[in-house]
This record gives sequence, structure tokens and C-alpha cells, in this order.
Amino acid sequence: MSISQKVQKGMEEGSWIRRMFEEGALLKQRYGKENVFDLSLGNPVMEPPVEFVQELRKLAEQPLPGMHRYMENAGYPETRAAVAAQLSLDIGIEFTFKDIIMTCGTSGALNILLKAILDEGDEVIIFAPYFVEFANFIGNHGGVTRILPSDEQFVPRVDVMETAIGPRTKAVIINSPNNPTGVVYGEDILHQLGELLRKKEAQYGTQIFLISDEVYRKIIYDGLKFQPPLHHHPQSIIVTSHSKDLALMGERIGYIAVNPGCSQKEELMDSLVFCNRVLGYANAPALMQHIVRHLQQVPAPVADYQKSRDFLYDNLTKMGYSLIKPQGAFYMFPESPLEDDVAFVRELKELKVLTVPGRGFGAPGYFRISYCVDEQTLEGSLAGFQKAAQKFNL
Ligand SMILES: Cc1ncc(COP(=O)(O)O)c(C=O)c1O
Repeated sequence: MSISQKVQKGMEEGSWIRRMFEEGALLKQRYGKENVFDLSLGNPVMEPPVEFVQELRKLAEQPLPGMHRYMENAGYPETRAAVAAQLSLDIGIEFTFKDIIMTCGTSGALNILLKAILDEGDEVIIFAPYFVEFANFIGNHGGVTRILPSDEQFVPRVDVMETAIGPRTKAVIINSPNNPTGVVYGEDILHQLGELLRKKEAQYGTQIFLISDEVYRKIIYDGLKFQPPLHHHPQSIIVTSHSKDLALMGERIGYIAVNPGCSQKEELMDSLVFCNRVLGYANAPALMQHIVRHLQQVPAPVADYQKSRDFLYDNLTKMGYSLIKPQGAFYMFPESPLEDDVAFVRELKELKVLTVPGRGFGAPGYFRISYCVDEQTLEGSLAGFQKAAQKFNL
């Protein structure tokens, strides 16, 4: 077979999320869409906000000259400036357009960044449970993924990191609010993380980047405040997008924001621009850049997600499921009533409820529920959860 062994291996190990999605599609064909309760994908059913439609209409009716042409690989300066201005307000660090590069989603941002900083064999630390594509993206650029554990509250174990960091450690990726746990990291853990990174940089004479995946930054509940990781380490970089806050997953619009205090920032920015080009993205979608520069202040529909979280959390805990109450994003990560999380997810599937086994996130013994769905789907899923709870004596 002429397919690369690396790709074949990647496909075999596959993504549990995609696998469940595909199995779910078959189930829906067989039993009808309305009888299958799909909580497997982080693909919000919400439509983008009205402001998005207004901007889209404006551009269709009064097109800007040259609005579909090639542009600077970093993106339109006006869009980068709008992102920088809002980010400065949101996280209290002064950014300018020169610190921002528009990208094809968070995924594009991560691939550009990892390509720019990794040499073959360089190590990148992530914490389980993790978003599975992190490991694939690291592998895309010759990096080696080091998976470290979180504690029982799903907070990264900084103590374990102390011994895991070596001279080849190039970056640590964190994600708060977190997929799949919904946990939001507090200031103390970020402080410890930053302190340790600087200590290790001094020990090895290296730079270790803190990469902060903030795709769920605007989805936080109960008035809790997002703690910006960039306050805790100068060599730090945000990767994010408008996939989740504005429900624009398919439009592929995101950005990289480099900490203005990062050393050798100009070289880093130049290399990110180069990587955006040579990876073939060229630039983030032009139309979306014209639109999102006017939407930076538009909030995410947090109240709706919080209502869904409360509804599901209250019901699942009453049924006896054991889980940490999510503080953000739109996922829950309960303990699997069966030791074998894949077997439990299959039981739920028989009951027409689709979820994802924890091992798909490097955390066997749990399962992930995505609750960015409509009310009928959430309500409809309860019967299946209840039957499973009874069957396994919760
Ligand atoms: C933690 C995390 N990072 C990145 C992504 C990918 O986001 P994007 O659509 O912006 O590429 C997702 C998508 O679910 C995610 O959960």
C-alpha cells in the first residue's frame, strides 16, 4: 500500500469522536433522526448571532473592492487590529495588530505554530484528558507528545511536570475551559506552571512555549472569570477561533496571538507567517476576516449553555452518575459506570444515546457528553441515561 505508515497508523487509532459520529449516522438512518440522541460532537446546533447575518448581508449588498483577492499571509491589518483591541480588553495585556495572525481555525493556528517551533524529536507536553487532535498535530511536525496526568479534579499535575521536562521540551499545551472536562484552570495552577517553565528554561538554557488553546474562553459559567495563562509566562501564545463562541465551526476563522512580552517575537511572527503560507493555508478566509472584525464584542450564548449544563448535571447526578460540575465549554466527563468505558458507551448507543469513550481523550474509565444540542435532544437522552443507570445499579 502506498499510503504512508504514519498516516495508516493514525487512521487505525482514529478518533473516537469521528467513529461515534459515523456509527450515529447509521443509527439515525435506521431509526430516524428524532429517535437518536446525539451528544457525541462539539458542533453547536445554535446558529451564528444576528450580527453575523447583518455583516454578511452588508458585504453581499455593498461588496468591498478586491475583497476576494489574496492578501498578506498574516491577514488584514484591520481585522488583526480589531482582534488585538478586544483581546487587550479581555485579558488585560496590550496587544497590537503585529501580535496577531489570522488562521484557518484553532486547528490551523496550532499546525502553523507547531511547524514553526518544532524540530524532529522535540517534545510537547499535554495533560490527559486532552483534545485528541493535539497529538496528531504535534506528530504532523515531527514532534513527540508527552502525555502527563491531571489530578482528580482534572487539573494538570505540575509536580509531575517537574521531572518530565527535559532539554528537548519545546512547548506545553493547555486548554481552559477544557474539552472534554469543562474545567476552568485557576490562577494558582497557572502561576505554578509559569514558575516551573521559567525554572526549567534557566536550567536547560532553552525556551519553553506555553500554548494556550482558548477556543472556549468566552463560555464560562456562574460568573467565574477566565484566568489568562499569558499573565504567567512571557513565552506564551494563544491559539483560538470563532468556531465555538460565534458558532462558525465550518467557516474556519481563528487566530494566533503572541504574548507581546515574548522574546525574539519578530522572528517568531515572521516564521508563523511563513508557515501559514507553506502549509498551504495562505491566509484565513477573506470573507470571514471582513465579518469577524465587526463581531469582536459579540458575546457567546453563555446563558443557554449554562441552562443545558444545569439541566443535564442535575438529572445525571440524581440518577447516580458521578461527575465534576463543568465550569465552562459545553462538555461533561462523568465516570463510566463500567470499568470499560467503550463497553458502556456501546450500552448507551443501544439505548440510542451517543457519547464518546474517555479513552478517546486519553482517560479510560470516563465518557464525554457534549451538550451543545437542542432541548429535545437533551430531554430525549434522559431515558437512555436512566435505563443505563438502573442496569448498572447506580
Ligand atoms: C480544545 C479544542 N481545540 C481546538 C478545536 C478545534 O477548533 P477549530 O474549529 O477552531 O479548529 C476544538 C474543537 O472541538 C477543541 O475542542
